[in-house]
Amino acid sequence: MAFFRKRSQIGRDRLSTETMTKGARLITAAEPKNPVSEQFRTLRTNIEFASVAKGDVKTLLISSALPSEGKSTITANLAVACAQQGKKVLLVDADLRRPTVAVTFGITDNHGLTNYLADANSDIQAIIHKTSMDKLDVVTSGPVPPNPAELLGSGRMTTLISELRAHYDLVIFDVPPFLMVTDAQVLMSKMDGVAIVVSADKTTKGALQRTNDILKIAGSPVLGFIYNDMNRKKKGSAGYGYGYGYGYGDTKAK
Ligand SMILES: Nc1ncnc2c1ncn2[C@@H]1O[C@H](COP(=O)(O)OP(=O)(O)OP(=O)(O)O)[C@@H](O)[C@H]1O
Ligand SMILES: [Mg+2]
Repeated sequence: MAFFRKRSQIGRDRLSTETMTKGARLITAAEPKNPVSEQFRTLRTNIEFASVAKGDVKTLLISSALPSEGKSTITANLAVACAQQGKKVLLVDADLRRPTVAVTFGITDNHGLTNYLADANSDIQAIIHKTSMDKLDVVTSGPVPPNPAELLGSGRMTTLISELRAHYDLVIFDVPPFLMVTDAQVLMSKMDGVAIVVSADKTTKGALQRTNDILKIAGSPVLGFIYNDMNRKKKGSAGYGYGYGYGYGDTKAK
């Protein structure tokens, strides 16, 4: 399939650090009328539809096979789109290795998820940060720990998730790519729903096959795939400097 890149091309890309240093571009907040924001609203609706079959999806994890496929950009904009709809939303930065949420939302207090998980006496309220949006709170990652997968797989993380479920309509988790480290796989079993970002530019056929195998073996509650066309800028169709094309389930929504 021409859509996928050859295996030999993988690894030639540098890891993108843009969202870690400058934050994700929150087009849904800055330009709600932009067609890209409309696509995030479509994604929101598609997730709602996919949720119907799975029951009430309150915890949603978004991952991808490989690095830099757009996970953090998508989770942040989806969280904003859901909050704009009036839902009480929490975005959790569970990418303890390459965090972005604090920078994206301008949170300067570095108290976050790792502080809570590493200290049995810490309080949940201390890691929940308000944003400029009424309905959207975030949990930042906190200091980078030596043992991310162990922390995310802990009983304390399970307890935290059930507490958060009780207080929010939707809790969205941004996590590392799951073919690279086990963090996402460890968390998947604790989620109501999982969505996988597929990048036109980066995802290889082999990576997607391995992804499918892992998801099946783990029995993950997969809601669908999110198609991210990061190449639109080159095609010049967005006219905005960058563009998104999202699909859900088996089809592309472009
Ligand atoms: N649709 C898009 N069009 C153009 N650029 C995009 C698109 N989606 C993401 N990007 C850019 O790609 C880079 C990587 O995005 P992002 O950090 O969201 O990916 P990620 O999957 O979270 O990466 P990581 O694996 O490091 O967590 C960023 O510079 C981001 O702005
Ligand atoms: Mg990321």
